[in-house]
Order: sequence, then structure tokens, then C-alpha cells
Amino acid sequence: MAAPKILIIPGSLRSGSHNAKLAMAAADEFVRVDAEVTRISLSDFPLPIYDGDLQARSGVPINAINLKRMIGAHQGVLIVTPEYNSSIPALVKNTIDWITRVQDPHEARGQVFREKPFAIAAASASRLGGTRALAALRLILTACHATVIPNQLALSFADDAYDDMDRLKNQADIDALKSLVRQLIEVSQRMM
Ligand SMILES: Cc1cc2nc3c(=O)[nH]c(=O)nc-3n(C[C@H](O)[C@H](O)[C@H](O)COP(=O)(O)O)c2cc1C
Repeated sequence: MAAPKILIIPGSLRSGSHNAKLAMAAADEFVRVDAEVTRISLSDFPLPIYDGDLQARSGVPINAINLKRMIGAHQGVLIVTPEYNSSIPALVKNTIDWITRVQDPHEARGQVFREKPFAIAAASASRLGGTRALAALRLILTACHATVIPNQLALSFADDAYDDMDRLKNQADIDALKSLVRQLIEVSQRMM
């Protein structure tokens, strides 16, 4: 079966981000099992805070259109999000909000979300590992008509989870990441 193309979106812009490191570890694992991976940074797709007046005046920003096209060009998507105040950061929500405003002609609402599976992961220094952000993100993506795979990864104690090369240190975390990657590939292939 053809290897799916997987898009990885880290939800933090911070240098040294635990979530960017987890996104990198996930990319390595996807490559190891022969998937094609694109790992982006949202710093390359800056977007203003969503404002209906701005959209009415100037349309949807090109960065939202490009992000939506990028999702469309992949067969699976992994979003790796920090947890802020028990939910997802404004950066992640605002990006999703803008993408949902891109309406291509002859396309059903939510089609880009519907056509492929999404996986979600989070990393936090806390014991819960961003579990509440994952619950929020799952709800939002599901409301956008996305298929969100059952497996998810909440990386606890993320400030002590990586070695000097930014690889995951603990076998349980490595196994959880492998399991997430395997399931996203399986569901992507089924939906291709
Ligand atoms: C505004 C704000 C709110 C936060 N709220 C939470 C929280 O609810 N739960 C949690 O585990 N960590 C919380 N944190 C800590 C972040 O998880 C931590 O800063 C994490 O390292 C951010 O992700 P990053 O390393 O990928 O940038 C919060 C951080 C900020 C800045």
C-alpha cells in the first residue's frame, strides 16, 4: 500500500518548545516507517486574530489559504499542541478558525477536515501532560467534521522527557508515540 503523506503542525512558536520537540520525534518515527512527512512551523504562516470585519474587508489571508491547501495535499495530519489554561493556545484555535473560513468553490463545508484523519498530541511539564488541551482539540476538530483517531499522546513531565539530542528518553513515551504514528498511518491508508 502507498505510504501516506503526513503533515505535522506544532502548536508552539517558542524556541526550545516541548511540543516542537515532540513534533520532531514524531516526524522521525513517521520517516522510520516510510511515511512522507512535512513538518511546518506556524511562524511561517502568521495570521491576525480572526475578525469578521477584517474578513469582509480583505478576505481570508493567504496564509490560511496556503495552510488549508497544505492539509489538502496530505493524507494525514498530526497536531501537537501545548496546554494553556486547560485548553489549546490561541495560536492553534485561531489557525483552525481561519482555515475553516476558506471556502473553495464546489467544495462542501468542512471537506478538507472530513477527507483525512487527524491525530493529536500534547506535551506539558505537568503530570497530566496536556490531557485537557487534547480534549478541547478533539472536540473542535470533530466539530469541524474531522476524523480524529482514538489514540492520542499526552506527554507528561516534558521538561525531563528528552535526551541531549531531543529524542524521547522513556520507553513508555516512545511506545506511545509509535502507537500513535502506526494508527494514523493505518487510518490514512484506509481513507486514501
Ligand atoms: C498562558 C499559559 C497557560 C498555561 N496553562 C497550562 C495548563 O493549563 N496546563 C499545563 O499543563 N501547562 C500550562 N502551561 C504551561 C505550558 O504547558 C508550558 O509553558 C509548555 O512548555 C508550553 O509548550 P511549549 O513548551 O511547546 O512552548 C501554561 C503556559 C502558559 C504560557
